[in-house]
Amino acid sequence: MDISSVLQGGYQHALSRSWQAQRTLTKNMLMYPIFITDEPDAYVEIPSLPGQARWGVNKLEEFLGPLVKMGLKSVILFGVPLHCEKDDRGSPADDPNGPVISAIRKIRSLFPELYIACDVCLCEYTSHGHCGVFRSDGTIDTTPSTARIAEVALAYARAGAHCVAPSDMMDGRIKAIKRALIDNGYGNRCTLMSYSAKFASALYGPFRDAAGSAPAFGDRKCYQLPPTAKGLARRAIKRDVAEGADIIMVKPALPYLDVIQDAKELAADYPLACYQVSGEYAMVVAGARAGVYDLKTMAFETVESMVRAGCTLILTYFTPQFLDWLDE
Ligand code: PBG
Ligand code: ZN
Repeated sequence: MDISSVLQGGYQHALSRSWQAQRTLTKNMLMYPIFITDEPDAYVEIPSLPGQARWGVNKLEEFLGPLVKMGLKSVILFGVPLHCEKDDRGSPADDPNGPVISAIRKIRSLFPELYIACDVCLCEYTSHGHCGVFRSDGTIDTTPSTARIAEVALAYARAGAHCVAPSDMMDGRIKAIKRALIDNGYGNRCTLMSYSAKFASALYGPFRDAAGSAPAFGDRKCYQLPPTAKGLARRAIKRDVAEGADIIMVKPALPYLDVIQDAKELAADYPLACYQVSGEYAMVVAGARAGVYDLKTMAFETVESMVRAGCTLILTYFTPQFLDWLDE
């Protein structure tokens, strides 16, 4: 055999196999998405997201306490308002007594070391279930949309969020939010993570179930990116960097590893995040239940592919399990 043909000599041992990684998954790379309702004592399991639940603010100590002990470093909050008056501009999103702002305050006081990101969007709070504000002719009105989204982001920053993460995909929102943060003294107190390349995906179903944010009519294709749109994704990433994002995110993750790799090149000097979304999580769990593969092995293979493609931050519903698995 030719000398140049032999690769196996370099990875015959578990330790030398680990040296082949350019980056290794660690606990600080995991951000856990959690759903907070406005029923303070709620614990309601979400059937389409096995193992995940909607939590009331009074349950956060028993929910997060053990995870923080296991090494949980960060969460991203999603509000699930069940008892509010939704309207066309998503007024309940920044209600000072709403689920997200209450949860930020509560978590800051219970777990001062835990990093709190907040998803910023209107769809959970609008009567029409869309992520922006409409003109009377039924098209999205970008200017009032981004103004409203910036208002909500600022309210979360004021309540104590370490990071705001707009997922609405309205043009110009990063600039609007960054401006609002800076002008109000939060420029150096709150990180702006952009869902930059967010695709119109079939993989958000369980989330919309969980958050009650399915659109009342139509779909999100005029603001979320077409799955085939590599060029648009690259332009969105470059734009959001130019508009002041501190972290770039690609979402969903597994079907878009090429976009993650592009983002690593286009935003080389920025932390790169990806979101292993609800449908990806449900798919991995369902496959394991059907006997297609071992759950832990597959969960690692998916998340490590995201690390390999360039991410150092992964939003995943598998976070509690990884905290356990990474100790083994
Ligand atoms: C809301 C939002 C969605 C997700 C995060 N923020 C749903 C959507 O855009 O329809 C999806 C997260 C997941 O599926 O886990 N804008
Ligand atoms: Zn939305």
